[in-house]
Amino acid sequence: MVATRTISILSGKGGVGKTTMTFNLGTALTDFGRNTLVIDGNLTTPNLGLHAGIPLYPISLHDVLKGKVDIYDVMHVLPSGLKIIPASINLNDLKGVNPELLSSNLIELVGKLDFILIDGAPGLGREATLVLNASNEAIGISTMDLPSITDLLKSIKVVEQYKKNYIGSIINMVRYKKYETKREYVSSLLEDTPILELVPHDESVRYALANRLPVVHHKPDSRASHSIKSIAAKLIGKEYKAPWYRRWFR
Ligand SMILES: Nc1ncnc2c1ncn2[C@@H]1O[C@H](COP(=O)(O)OP(=O)(O)O)[C@@H](O)[C@H]1O
Ligand SMILES: [Mg+2]
Repeated sequence: MVATRTISILSGKGGVGKTTMTFNLGTALTDFGRNTLVIDGNLTTPNLGLHAGIPLYPISLHDVLKGKVDIYDVMHVLPSGLKIIPASINLNDLKGVNPELLSSNLIELVGKLDFILIDGAPGLGREATLVLNASNEAIGISTMDLPSITDLLKSIKVVEQYKKNYIGSIINMVRYKKYETKREYVSSLLEDTPILELVPHDESVRYALANRLPVVHHKPDSRASHSIKSIAAKLIGKEYKAPWYRRWFR
């Protein structure tokens, strides 16, 4: 039996990079030799499967949450070795879904994997809290702008209410412009909860998505890839050193 860490990836706002981070952190953890599963917990607007290049599949998490199939029936292994459970992109599949079955199904996987990362729904609604409830820990994602940061703080409060361990925040799509909020200010707005990493805005992430690959594989030497690998290393208590010609930027 291994000690499985179940981590939900959450945010106050949508479009800040939750799915990108779930997929890439999962891939980087797999590359570091950790048995990792990523799950699409965004049941109403799922897109993890799209990021991974498997948008259409006969059965998905939705069927598990209807009690129709076993969780192992919907688990795919990507060429990288990363395991993935996609959700259905067909709106009709939402009928009859009981999201509360997520927790009980995940219990089956505990002890068999090192990491389970769940891509959550943005905000504080039921969909987001059910994912949080199914996890032991959480990582928050925000961009550098104030509305996104203040909304993330609300999500962090919910994590605390649910008595889950808040690992820290990833500030994504940072452009290092003068108009951006400074790191110290972001930190104080987030009430000094840990900031795991600032991930730069990097076109490579968009190219990778267009190619249905994680950026850590599509452009492993990009600035975003080094940042993401450094977060994965932190999760397993390792130090990651980006090459010197990338380090000045961070
Ligand atoms: N660091 C980054 N640099 C550039 N583009 C990014 C970065 N992170 C995410 N993106 C892009 O932003 C968009 C939204 O990301 P996504 O992961 O789908 O957000 P969410 O899941 O929070 O809605 C995608 O087109 C993605 O490629
Ligand atoms: Mg998403």
